[in-house]
Amino acid sequence: MAMDAIEFFKGYGRVNETVDKRLRSATRRRLILVVASAAALLLVFLVAVPIAVSKRGRSPSPESVADSIRAMCNVTRYPASCFSSVSAANGANLTTDPEELFGVSLAVAMDALAAASAAASEFAPPSKDRRLAAALRDCRELLGGAIDRINDSIALMRPAAGEATLNASEIEDLRTWLSAAVTNQDTCLEGFEGTTGGFLGKMEAAMANATEYTSNSLAIATGILGAMEKSRFPLHRRRLLYAGGGREWMRRALQEKGKPKPNVTVAADGSGQVRSIKEAVDLAPRRSEEAFVIYIKAGVYKEQVVVGKDQWNVVMFGDGMDKTVVEGNLNFVGGTPTFSTATFIAEGKGFVAMTMGFKNSAGPEKHQAVALRSSSDRSVFFRCGFDSFQGSLYAHSLRQFYRECHIAGTVDIIFGNAAATFQACLIRPKQALLHQENTVTAQGKSDPNQNTGFALQACSIQRLDSDVTVPSYLGRPRKDYSTTVVMQSEIGSVIDPAGWLSWVVGEEPPNTIKYGEYQNNGAGSSVAGRVHWPGYSPAMSEAEANRYTVEALISGGDWIPATGVQFQSNLG
Ligand SMILES: *[C@@H]1O[C@H](CO)[C@@H](O)[C@H](O)[C@H]1NC(C)=O
Ligand SMILES: *[C@@H]1O[C@H](CO)[C@@H](O)[C@H](O)[C@H]1NC(C)=O
Ligand SMILES: *[C@@H]1O[C@H](CO)[C@@H](O)[C@H](O)[C@H]1NC(C)=O
Ligand SMILES: *[C@@H]1O[C@H](CO)[C@@H](O)[C@H](O)[C@H]1NC(C)=O
Ligand SMILES: *[C@@H]1O[C@H](CO)[C@@H](O)[C@H](O)[C@H]1NC(C)=O
Ligand SMILES: *[C@@H]1O[C@H](CO)[C@@H](O)[C@H](O)[C@H]1NC(C)=O
Repeated sequence: MAMDAIEFFKGYGRVNETVDKRLRSATRRRLILVVASAAALLLVFLVAVPIAVSKRGRSPSPESVADSIRAMCNVTRYPASCFSSVSAANGANLTTDPEELFGVSLAVAMDALAAASAAASEFAPPSKDRRLAAALRDCRELLGGAIDRINDSIALMRPAAGEATLNASEIEDLRTWLSAAVTNQDTCLEGFEGTTGGFLGKMEAAMANATEYTSNSLAIATGILGAMEKSRFPLHRRRLLYAGGGREWMRRALQEKGKPKPNVTVAADGSGQVRSIKEAVDLAPRRSEEAFVIYIKAGVYKEQVVVGKDQWNVVMFGDGMDKTVVEGNLNFVGGTPTFSTATFIAEGKGFVAMTMGFKNSAGPEKHQAVALRSSSDRSVFFRCGFDSFQGSLYAHSLRQFYRECHIAGTVDIIFGNAAATFQACLIRPKQALLHQENTVTAQGKSDPNQNTGFALQACSIQRLDSDVTVPSYLGRPRKDYSTTVVMQSEIGSVIDPAGWLSWVVGEEPPNTIKYGEYQNNGAGSSVAGRVHWPGYSPAMSEAEANRYTVEALISGGDWIPATGVQFQSNLG
């Protein structure tokens, strides 16, 4: 079967007429064979186009349709709900074509999300319960975001002119968006932490179908990729150079003058077009493929800034991470769910920030108080500062790259469920409250098929002041599939010899987490006293570490070059 698979892949992506004809007759027979095996069925996906062409005009038997759905659903975490929901999809003329069936699974997830969102709109919290009202508002926003990501996936599956098959980058896009759709639902439920009135249970019930169906679609997309990888198809090795678009000019501008020409300048003293960052962001066009550049002159800007989900390719730069600073103080203890405490929120895709600082000054007694949250796909932060105490940097979802940034905080300094790389960053644990423990990371991957995780590469982890006396750790796994790797970094003496901390005191994390270290140095880098968790590798092999490079984790070659920000795509 494996050799057959490789034969198939040779035609993948560039199916010419002869290959096409040969495949057409072969694939119908093969389809019947491979349907018996779920893993093999995925191969069919890749040749689905020739199949689809050959069977147009005929209807498959109901039995063969059911077999196909069952085989496809066999790769999911919830095969029964996958089978029943896809089979029952109303109005769809179901086929045996996995590509089309995957589309049906997306449509089913979209409907369930819309139903959950409608339910959330009808919950009426008791008046005066600020936290609950905020949790419900965040939840509706998050479900809306999940719907958008499914919609993006459906749009990608729609055949465009001249695009017969999906390529590796597009499969990675699908996995990224569906991973985020799952994360958004997790985050929605987390928002009810600390609320009363049984709303967590109500929301969970309203979202039950959406949660399973989204996970099912993610599993189907991932399983296909998995089959390709098993067949040694060089998925991550296709370095794509930037293929045009509005952001190219920015790189040129950067190379020529060091700074791009701003579309709007912000200055607190009135010497720019506007005085606040928010006013400048309001001017950014909706759904623009072109960069909109905001220059923010030195100063402390006390405001909450949101780059909205339809504000794409917003680029910001300041006069230095300590000179241009945006500062807020929303916090968990004050009644704001963690998700909305951030001083600066980036939602729209392609957000870039350079040489500026983000701060939340609520203080350690106020618990979670986020300086910046990014839910922006393909967001880039270069020479930025992030400073708070608990939960400084919320790398919430989608793909993110941080380079030469300074990140200071106490508990869960960097947290969330993005696929995020921190390269050449300085991470500085500060003094927490005396009963607390510092953790550099708290990654939150909840579904085994998500393509998320944190990688720290060539970073330096050093105490901020000599007065840091609480124990500090590299991280604590927050969910069952949490994934974090620290590699080629300098680990200072601030880090406890045990290295890592359990999320639940006195209980080992599940075996399903993926944690590791690779080629670190520094006074805190000895792994002799490290935890012994089955999911943790104190000395990863080069092959393992290679799965967490910029190329492998965030497909950085596809999108970072356009920003002109320097990066290292591999282990060097
Ligand atoms: C599902 O997959 C397992 C192996 O992963 C296989 O043993 C089983 O037969 C499959 N079931 C169906 C209905 O395809
Ligand atoms: C299903 O197929 C029938 C016959 O080919 C067609 O008339 C109908 O529009 C199709 N329905 C959908 C929802 O595509
Ligand atoms: C999905 O996207 C299309 C545009 O690509 C838009 O017209 C449609 O309203 C969107 N649907 C939802 C449910 O957001
Ligand atoms: C994948 O296909 C998209 C859409 O046609 C294209 O823009 C992109 O360059 C392709 N990527 C690769 C790696 O071939
Ligand atoms: C979930 O799906 C099942 C099967 O379609 C349906 O009976 C149930 O009402 C749905 N639940 C919610 C909360 O929508
Ligand atoms: C920003 O300004 C440049 C000229 O410097 C212009 O070409 C571009 O269209 C502007 N971007 C937007 C989104 O308006």
